[in-house]
Amino acid sequence: MFSTGLLNNRTILITGGATGLGRSMAFKFGSLGASVGIMSRSEKRLSATVDDLMKAGINAAFHVADVRKPEEIHTAVDAMENEIGHFNTLINNAAGNFISPLEYLSPNAVDSILGIVLHGTFYCTLDLGKRWIERKNGGTVLNIVTTYATTGSAYVAPSAAAKGGVLALTKSLAAEWAKYGIRHVAIAPGAFPTEGAWSRLAPTKDLSDRMLERIPFKRFGTHEELTDLAAFLISDGASFINGEAVSIDGGEAIANASQFGFLSDLSEQDWKAIRELTRRPKA
Ligand code: HXC
Ligand code: NAP
Repeated sequence: MFSTGLLNNRTILITGGATGLGRSMAFKFGSLGASVGIMSRSEKRLSATVDDLMKAGINAAFHVADVRKPEEIHTAVDAMENEIGHFNTLINNAAGNFISPLEYLSPNAVDSILGIVLHGTFYCTLDLGKRWIERKNGGTVLNIVTTYATTGSAYVAPSAAAKGGVLALTKSLAAEWAKYGIRHVAIAPGAFPTEGAWSRLAPTKDLSDRMLERIPFKRFGTHEELTDLAAFLISDGASFINGEAVSIDGGEAIANASQFGFLSDLSEQDWKAIRELTRRPKA
């Protein structure tokens, strides 16, 4: 789909890059010529992923940092920049989430999600943004949100509120930091099975099947589909796209907002009868 050197000039920081979609983006961007730095809390997972990236011929580095701690982010970015060069692209991908009625949660549980998703995205953007403004070379930020960042969603209220905030940040800084040559984009994924998400959001086969049922194509998204979109959006080919969030969910959000979507289970016979009932009476 892309020429191999598409991201040759990129050094990309991916938060949460050792697992799931972050890991898949690291391999995709690396295969297109980028150097990649990954950052999260588990040294074991980071180290294993960087080993695999390097085996694939990708220039990569890692550093442990909790995105809720600005000083840890700063130290990690300094260390990785010494190893693989100055970052010019940031993927805010780290997240925390689980399904629960809000009334079961403690304030600490709410803070945990808001801290990782909303504050963590702010802190990483602020750290890299300050460096980019000083260096005067611009930069690109891709924020991974969710389709429910715009609609909200029951049973994941802290995540929905945090992702909604990240979406507002994307649009705010698209306007504010364009003057520094810093571009902001977002991806709103639907359902893409990963161990991290499924263990917390669809922990039984029944719940996973019910998620699948909501998607008009009756299949989940593949990591390849998401990473292709991410590669395009961060590339120079998308340099006039700023402040936009692109949904990639197989039409799930639209289908479930569709007022008459419930008619999908009507038979040909049903439609024949309805045609007769709904035609304008002949004069
Ligand atoms: C209720 C829970 C809970 C659960 C934790 N808590 N899990 N409450 N149900 N399942 C409570 C704890 O009791 C504690 O409150 C507080 O939350 C913090 O928990 P910790 O385990 O101490 O926090 P921490 O170590 O910071 O872990 C953060 C986490 C965890 C979010 C809770 O799940 C995590 O590390 N997640 C990272 C990966 C992840 O979530 N990936 C999924 C992303 S998918 P108390 O009061 O007891 O101290 C996504 C979009 C998916 O974002 C959309 C799919 C379609
Ligand atoms: P995942 O594998 O669990 O990814 C989350 C990553 O964030 C993990 O690598 C985790 O690493 C890291 N992380 C969590 N808390 C952190 C912290 N405090 N500091 C630093 N890193 C932290 O889940 P995923 O499905 O790939 O999700 C990736 C992104 O896609 C998230 O933004 C998610 O909201 C979004 N998304 C996913 C789906 C889906 O269907 N999978 C749908 C919509 C949106 P550690 O735990 O080791 O720190």
